[in-house]
Amino acid sequence: MNNQKLIRLINTAIERIAAYFVIPLEKLAYRNYFDYPFGKQPLADADSYRKIWQQARQIEYPEIDRFEKDTGHAIDQEWFHDLALLTQVVIKRSDICYQHGRLLYAELSRYIDQHADQRITILETGTARGFSALCMAKALYDQQQPGKIITFDVLPHNVKMYWNCISDNQGAQTRAELLKNYRELVNEFIIFHQGDTKKELEKIEIPRIHFAFLDGKHTYDYAIYEFNYVSKRQKPGDIIFFDDYTPQKFPGIVKAVDEICNNHHYGKQIIRISEQRRYAITQKKHGN
Ligand SMILES: C[S@@+](CC[C@H](N)C(=O)[O-])C[C@H]1O[C@@H](n2cnc3c(N)ncnc32)[C@H](O)[C@@H]1O
Repeated sequence: MNNQKLIRLINTAIERIAAYFVIPLEKLAYRNYFDYPFGKQPLADADSYRKIWQQARQIEYPEIDRFEKDTGHAIDQEWFHDLALLTQVVIKRSDICYQHGRLLYAELSRYIDQHADQRITILETGTARGFSALCMAKALYDQQQPGKIITFDVLPHNVKMYWNCISDNQGAQTRAELLKNYRELVNEFIIFHQGDTKKELEKIEIPRIHFAFLDGKHTYDYAIYEFNYVSKRQKPGDIIFFDDYTPQKFPGIVKAVDEICNNHHYGKQIIRISEQRRYAITQKKHGN
């Protein structure tokens, strides 16, 4: 056997051995997210979730109404609140507020008005239960716009868990099962990718990202890392929407967004609905 053949055989053997360990090692690295991250049993009964939802849906948000009016687009209210009951209403100390879904729908629809001739690629970091991805999918569907939403989360899509949500009383479910009533939108528009964005983004090549919603780790480092990934793939007019531009709660996000706008040719619009809730919509002005 010549040397080259021997080296090829050794390389193949190394690849096989490494591949054998990759999936178990990945599972080990993400074990907290695969093993009932929201608890091993339901946190409350369905009525408790419904009560929280009934209160949350009564609150009025004039800034969001104005934003919708300016864009000429508003998400269907019944559809929106029903989705929120399943994917946003959780047991937690802070108030429930899911208005970013209205903003995402309206802003994406406005973007589509101006780019109707293109297939739109959307990147999301922080899928959670799928709420924001579905609000964006609804915009693509309503505006009859071909496109894809690629969404990342450390939480797996096909592992059963309790989600701290109203349907937990039906037993542990995967995210795919949780979203079964939205299957058509999911199948047409959404690609779910499990893993930490710093490790996973570089593994996929997306030539253009028209619109991004960054709502994952909420630290300065991650916001800058994800911004760098997205901005390289954007053209003037393209959008990055940051959730939680809120100085008291997420100073890292505020610092990152301000730096991005000062140093990287992005303009920003801040939507403030309370001291606890601000959103930053940034738009690329010209090339880097
Ligand atoms: C605020 S939640 C996202 C909410 C969601 N966008 C919505 O509107 O319903 C943040 C999510 O980011 C995920 N996450 C946190 N750090 C991450 C990371 N480094 N990479 C990928 N996802 C991450 C969390 O698991 C969590 O589900």
